[in-house]
Amino acid sequence: MKTTKVTIHTLRQMKERGEKIAVLTAYDATFARLFDESGADVLLVGDSLGMVVQGHETTLPVTLEEMAYHCRAVVRGVRRAHVVGDMPFMTYQASIDQAMTNAGRLMKEGGVGSVKLEGGAQHAELVHRLVGAGIPVMGHIGLTPQSYHQLGGFKVQGRGEGGREKLLADARALEEAGAYSIVLEAIPSDIAREITLAVSVPTIGIGAGVACDGQVLVSYDMLGMDETFKPRFVRRFATLGAEIKDAVGAYVTEVRSGTFPSDAESFALVETRAPQPAALYSTAAAKK
Ligand code: KIV
Repeated sequence: MKTTKVTIHTLRQMKERGEKIAVLTAYDATFARLFDESGADVLLVGDSLGMVVQGHETTLPVTLEEMAYHCRAVVRGVRRAHVVGDMPFMTYQASIDQAMTNAGRLMKEGGVGSVKLEGGAQHAELVHRLVGAGIPVMGHIGLTPQSYHQLGGFKVQGRGEGGREKLLADARALEEAGAYSIVLEAIPSDIAREITLAVSVPTIGIGAGVACDGQVLVSYDMLGMDETFKPRFVRRFATLGAEIKDAVGAYVTEVRSGTFPSDAESFALVETRAPQPAALYSTAAAKK
């Protein structure tokens, strides 16, 4: 069956039609395939992988090479969704030339359809240059995790004096520079609603209320992989952390008691049973 690929133009049309956009983070081919087959419109290979996959305290240590590696894996698992790759910390802040080279690498080596970078008006010139070079850009304002130390932690943004005006100005600057979409992270819902009405490009909220044109969550959070982590803006749609522990616990018990594997799960020198499927290993790409 032919699948119509989601593009940045599809996302714009969805905003115009008032259709909400469902975005999730993905970091490997297997999860990407599952999310894609479940209808996610956009998969973001977020630098949140530094925290949920690599186990760091922040996203800062993630490198361009690591991002490209995870992007390639996600792209292999996807048929329909648009795939966005996050530009890691200090791969675009030092100079426009360096940012152009690095964004180009993420597109070429990672195979993604667009890149995301954190920050507003200060990156308007860069966004303009990237878009001019054929690299679609998703903006990201509000809580920008790469500025963790500057912001003094992961905190709601925009509440202070002039906060609303700054966020609006950042969103407008990104739109004007050619960004095709803007992530609004951890800002009051009222401000997110105002920005969503003010710009023609889709806003994608995370902790920014229901008025945004779409929503994004870190997939590990919404799947409940970490039973101890439940910030207010996350809804757990599953409790996979607990389920994985149950499954692994059962496996350990059966290995130790010698009840796994059974004869049916083992190979005989001469097979008397019906022939088995040829594949001994599963690959996400093979499902395409
Ligand atoms: O890195 C990431 O996963 C993100 C989303 C939370 C928007 O930037």
